[in-house]
Formats: sequence, structure tokens, C-alpha cells
Amino acid sequence: MTGYHRPVLLAESVEGLAVKPDGIYVDVTFGSGQSSRAILERLGPEGRLFSFDQDQDAEANRIDDPRCTFIAANFKHIRNYLQFHGVSQVNGILADLGVSSHQFDVAERGFSTRFDGPLDMRMDRSRGLTAADVLASYGEDELADLFYRYGEVHNSRRLARLIVQSRTQTPITRTEQLRELATLCSDTANRNRFLAQVFQALRMEVNGEMEALSALLTQSVGMLKPGGRLVVIAYHSLEDRMVKRFLRSGNLEGKEEKDFYGNPLSPFRLVTRKAVIPSEAELAENSRSRSARLRIGEKTNIVKTS
Ligand SMILES: C[S@@+](CC[C@H](N)C(=O)[O-])C[C@H]1O[C@@H](n2cnc3c(N)ncnc32)[C@H](O)[C@@H]1O
Repeated sequence: MTGYHRPVLLAESVEGLAVKPDGIYVDVTFGSGQSSRAILERLGPEGRLFSFDQDQDAEANRIDDPRCTFIAANFKHIRNYLQFHGVSQVNGILADLGVSSHQFDVAERGFSTRFDGPLDMRMDRSRGLTAADVLASYGEDELADLFYRYGEVHNSRRLARLIVQSRTQTPITRTEQLRELATLCSDTANRNRFLAQVFQALRMEVNGEMEALSALLTQSVGMLKPGGRLVVIAYHSLEDRMVKRFLRSGNLEGKEEKDFYGNPLSPFRLVTRKAVIPSEAELAENSRSRSARLRIGEKTNIVKTS
């Protein structure tokens, strides 16, 4: 399904999995299914692939292949779902985080600053608060914090105050209303960037994106076989920082432990010392690739004794 989404760093990320023909792999962000298809091309008849996506629309791209199982769920529950399918250890996990172009391009989903639409922004429309619910129910400080934390929105306090004042007159339910309020807090020169930051922050809150990533990383350590690969493409500096720290240390705090002799005790060997970024050619062809950062870790067989 090429019109649905154009994957970023596709070759580099699938290459990074170092696919073994008879291995078990997990693509936790199926989207258009192109990354999954590229994995299947490298798998032999005995290989298995589990593909997750929490967006009901992605299910239409399911791949008709006996080696592949589509799981319509949030990847934060990866271990439970794989256990249900009788799998406890895998050879590789691929996460291409964030939203698909399809989600951005459909006005009704409410992700984009470009169209008027309902303020939904949920990837999984079967559960949770919509963006409109967040704007209606969060306190002023909570709103300011989320805009600052996830969007680095510099006028976050002013925007939160405006939202709280405005919602006492009329509920904020449309992207156009949020755009208008955010526009009052931005200068003309940086308006588009400002709006994008506001929308991104709200989307990350609505979908609990940082929580889902931390749950995935934490579970990945126990699920990967020695030599197994964890491949993550992040589009937000907070996510990339979390991945970088985790691969270095094996924990979310980034606490690097050493053995008696001073050797690092991380459960990962860094395959990428620095993040891989898209080539000039990819950047020219696909502007949505510009913030992408790819990192790869290989599970070691280090077992901590204490
Ligand atoms: C950037 S796109 C992935 C594109 C994919 N590599 C491809 O080949 O088209 C991200 C996809 O992951 C899904 N997604 C994001 N967070 C998720 C989560 N926590 N659980 C399950 N799916 C998620 C989104 O719904 C979206 O379809």
C-alpha cells in the first residue's frame, strides 16, 4: 500500500535487523506494511513475523502470507500478545515510531494542522481520551506542562491559559479552533513550526507515546535472544534520547553498570554508535524523513549476577 505511507530509512532499518531466514521477528509499527514485506522477503519458509498496529485503518494492509500474523493492538503489550501466540523469545524487533502519512492526511483523524477536522488524534479509535477530551478536562498547569514537555512550545503557559479561558465560552472540538488559539501565541515568522509543535505535543499525550515506548524497551531485553536485534526509528528528540540511553545501559534511567573489572554490563552491543539519519537523496524526496534517527542494538549474552 504505497499511498498509505512512505517508510523512512526502510533499507537501513530492515538491514539492521540482520534477518535470519528461520528467525522470529516483530514489526511493532506495521502501518502500510512495507517494512513487514521487506522482512518477509528475507525470511525463509520457516521464518515467522508478527506485525502490530493499533490503528484500525492499518488492518486493511494486512499481508496474506502464512508466515505473518497481524496483531491489532498497542505494542506496549508485546510480551503478552506474543505469549498468547506461543512465542517468548524473538530474533529481532523493529519499531518505526510515530504516525503514518495516512493518519496525517485524513482530515477526520484530527492530526494535521492543514485541514479542519474533529480534534480526535487517537491512533486507536476504540479507546482513550480524544484530543478534544484532553483540552476539555486537563487543568491549566497540566496543559502547559504537556505542551512544554512534548512540543518544547515556548509560550506553553500562555497557550494553556488561552485554552482554559476559551473553553468556558465554547468547547474546543475542532482543529481549526486550536489553530486559532495557537496562532494568537506565535509570531508570524515561525507560525507553521509553532502549530506543528502544539499538535505534536497533544498527539503524544493522547496516545501515551512515551509510555508505550518505555514499555516496549523494557520488555525487549527479556524477549530478544542473544544476538537478536532491536531497531528503532524515532522522530522526536525525547524518544531518541530514551532509545539511546536504553541501548547504552539496558535501563530507562541510563544507569551504566560495570562488572568487577570495569567492563560495561549493558545487555546491548551498540551496532550504531551514532544515530543513522536519512541520506540527502531521501531528505530531498521525503520531507517527513527529516527528523528521523535510527539506532540499533544487539542483545549480548551478559547475565547480571547481582
Ligand atoms: C511511521 S508509521 C510505520 C510505517 C511502517 N514502517 C510502514 O512500512 O508503513 C507508524 C505506525 O505505527 C503505529 N503505531 C504507533 N504507535 C503504536 C503503538 N504504541 N502500538 C501499535 N501501533 C502503533 C501507527 O498507527 C502507524 O501506523
